[in-house]
Amino acid sequence: MASLDRSLDRRLSVAPMMARTDRHCRYFLRLLSARTLLYSEMIHAGAVVHGDRARLLAFDPAEHPVGLQLGGADPDDLARAAEIGQAFGYDEINLNIGCPSPRVRKGRFGAALMATPELVADCAAAMIRAVDIPVTVKCRIGIDGRGEYADLKHFVETVAAAGITSFAVHARIAVLDGLSPAENREIPPLRYGDVRRLKQEMPQLEVVINGGVASLEEAEAHLQRVDGAMIGRAAYADPAMLREADRRIFGAPAEPLPSRHEIARAMLPYVRRMRADGVPLHRIAGHMLGLFAGRPGARAWRRALGEACHRVCAGPEVIEAALALVPEEAAQEEAANPAQRGHRRRMQSTPPGETPSIASPAR
Ligand SMILES: Cc1cc2nc3c(=O)[nH]c(=O)nc-3n(C[C@H](O)[C@H](O)[C@H](O)COP(=O)(O)O)c2cc1C
Repeated sequence: MASLDRSLDRRLSVAPMMARTDRHCRYFLRLLSARTLLYSEMIHAGAVVHGDRARLLAFDPAEHPVGLQLGGADPDDLARAAEIGQAFGYDEINLNIGCPSPRVRKGRFGAALMATPELVADCAAAMIRAVDIPVTVKCRIGIDGRGEYADLKHFVETVAAAGITSFAVHARIAVLDGLSPAENREIPPLRYGDVRRLKQEMPQLEVVINGGVASLEEAEAHLQRVDGAMIGRAAYADPAMLREADRRIFGAPAEPLPSRHEIARAMLPYVRRMRADGVPLHRIAGHMLGLFAGRPGARAWRRALGEACHRVCAGPEVIEAALALVPEEAAQEEAANPAQRGHRRRMQSTPPGETPSIASPAR
């Protein structure tokens, strides 16, 4: 059995989310935290092997560390897709055993695979053989009919025997018969106890907890009992929470936090570059709608950005115009935190056309 993989720091990650954690979203999130591990949306192995790889897999080097999440149930396809992902530069390959959507279920992958741990082990073994980067699994605590802790333990033991040492576990069962994907993220109760027990009973494995983690405080509390916390919806809805992750979760030296305005402005060179490549603004700016969540001006920001970014020719000026509607928070923060002034000077001295480095690079 492979040894515990410590090559990537998984203490905090943003969960893979379809239609959310695409490359533009990840670029944006990376400006907020240098160290939080990011994941792609789930991409089917068959699409990677037979489809337009460059479109599906290309990403900006600034996004590291970033994992590619694959879906599928064919060991050969998954192995080939993992190999291709490695060649594109991903830092980890994650296998999705948690998605409950009917389409995925029909294709007999995702959460349905929790019923066939031996097949998952075969897939995992093939993927591990194919690449040198870590291969990890994201699963549920169970599915309907196999929702006992003993089922989870059997699943994890079987897959771990194939060489998987890191599991991200969504602490809810997936009800494959009768609940929609959205309901499957809300209705089955959270059972954090099962995930903690897994870590206790299998301390040699890295166990990352997922589901309902709403803040860095909650992530810190989980870290007392498990190895990592993975945040999905809350990080997307209020991405600015990640600004404190490097210091609070990863122990980076305390540095003044970039303001939300600074983060938005730091996106402008990227937006210009992507617009020049023909990427519509809404595909980038749509991920920034939550930047001012809970702050004065949040609604004006969302409305201005949300409406204007769909215009065919919309470019960075839309972001600048929306920003002008939001009161600068930095003035207050500077008053409270004089160190912020030094940070502001550094941001302003960034040469035009270059992306200011807001969070210090992870590697
Ligand atoms: C819009 C959306 C899309 C999702 N897509 C994926 C996916 O592609 N792969 C996956 O493993 N989980 C996916 N999930 C589930 C999340 O990764 C996560 O397990 C779930 O949202 C629970 O975490 P949270 O409560 O922190 O959001 C998705 C969730 C949402 C809300």
